[in-house]
Amino acid sequence: MPEADVVKQAKKFYEDVPMKTEGFFLKGAGALDWGMKNRLSRIFNPKTGRTVMFAIDHGYFQGPTTGLERIDLTIVPLMYYADAIMLTRGILRTTVPPTLNKPIVMRCSGGPSILKELSNEELAVDIEDAIRMNVSAITLQVFIGGEFETRSVHNMTRLVDMGIRFGIPTMAVTAVGKDMVRDARYFRLACRICAELGAQIIKTYYIEDGFSTVTASCPVPIVMAGGKKIPEIDALTMAYKAIQEGAAGVDMGRNIFQSDAPEAMMQAIHKVVHENMKPTEAYKLYETLKNEQKKD
Ligand code: R5P
Repeated sequence: MPEADVVKQAKKFYEDVPMKTEGFFLKGAGALDWGMKNRLSRIFNPKTGRTVMFAIDHGYFQGPTTGLERIDLTIVPLMYYADAIMLTRGILRTTVPPTLNKPIVMRCSGGPSILKELSNEELAVDIEDAIRMNVSAITLQVFIGGEFETRSVHNMTRLVDMGIRFGIPTMAVTAVGKDMVRDARYFRLACRICAELGAQIIKTYYIEDGFSTVTASCPVPIVMAGGKKIPEIDALTMAYKAIQEGAAGVDMGRNIFQSDAPEAMMQAIHKVVHENMKPTEAYKLYETLKNEQKKD
């Protein structure tokens, strides 16, 4: 007997209601497994399909970067405003409260410091440790055109393979060497290679000319990298343009934590990303919040 029906009740099978087969909201992710989709849905808001990721992993190659000297004091409070946090396992374990209920995008490559050739990276985190830390994605630099291009691509394909085994998406960061041309042709090449070889998310830089061709020719979501600190209005404008030209969010660091008012900046970026707020309006919001926060 399948079920002991002590109290006889009419069972509800809703035979006339076909079961829905849901699609998936993220570009290129329809055929992924449940665990991978679930993790992606933690990083990208399923309502908007976008994310505000907060990058604070700079220390893995450049030590205590300006603004990241005391992550416990100045950065942890900002994490509550982000949709996801990109960081190293050292900072996660030493400094981030485990009660922080935010998806973690774990930096998994490293090796050279700013004193050496940066493309000479290796994988620096075991997948078992990533699982132990309950991360939502794993990430690394890929140096297309760099001195150690093949090594960094191979690092990525290994990370992708490990991630697929356990349902963890990989975000490839297209790193650009100092002397390399940052144009649409280069970013189309770099992003497409990373996606073709299996990365489920790509982080890349915004370019004024042809960014929409970079997002259009990449079959997975692209998040815009922030880059060096620029005036707030310019950073908001760059984020706005990237979103309007097909980015599925931003992954910004210095333009948030080196801002005069990081909390206000984070909130303004949210509006640009999730609500398509125009840059001038977002800048006004930034100024208002900045003044309010000064008074507190
Ligand atoms: C790339 O080199 C690393 O992921 C960076 O630490 C991070 O992406 C930099 O973020 P931002 O350029 O917005 O400061």
